[in-house]
Amino acid sequence: MLEKDIQEVLFSEEQLKTRVNEIAQEIDRDYAGKEIMLISVLRGSFIFMADLCRAIDLDCTLDFMSVSSYGKGTSSSGQVQITKDLSEDISGRHIIVVEDILDSGNTLSYLLKILEHRHPASIRLCTLLDKPDRRVKPVEVHYSGFTIPDAFVVGYGLDYAEKYRNLPYIGILKPEVYGG
Ligand code: XMP
Ligand code: MG
Repeated sequence: MLEKDIQEVLFSEEQLKTRVNEIAQEIDRDYAGKEIMLISVLRGSFIFMADLCRAIDLDCTLDFMSVSSYGKGTSSSGQVQITKDLSEDISGRHIIVVEDILDSGNTLSYLLKILEHRHPASIRLCTLLDKPDRRVKPVEVHYSGFTIPDAFVVGYGLDYAEKYRNLPYIGILKPEVYGG
């Protein structure tokens, strides 16, 4: 009965599938002949990562990391900490960071800076969703699935209080659910 907490479906399963395949084709074109490494930022991007990597037709390795941004409720703060680091060395490799959503930019600007210090051959960001209205830190995005308005969204990996990740679509959460 997850549906009862959803105000509006933003992107259906079908729309997500189509867009993920388009992004994969773009990546295939841009990195033709190269080997890439996808880095999924846990936990929100795990479903996007799973679908994206299966639509990519290049030699590809995967790794995962986890960060926490100290902030509760529905916004992050400027303080970010790595809670699970990568297992692989990224130096000399073509990296694509796979994120669920770019919001204030606090998390990703910090994360990208850390990864750049490890000397990858190249580094790009692929985010499924971009919420530009709330940006406080500039972040360069190379692949973006959808631009969304300033609303709290869940599903397809995205959570509120760890719930709703298993919704197959992306929807706007009713504000009364989080006391908004
Ligand atoms: P920042 O603000 O650092 O935020 O760019 C990135 C992280 O904040 C979470 N976030 C959301 N999670 N629905 C969610 O489920 C949202 O609408 C939302 N906005 C931000 C998310 O963890 C993201 O990685
Ligand atoms: Mg996230």
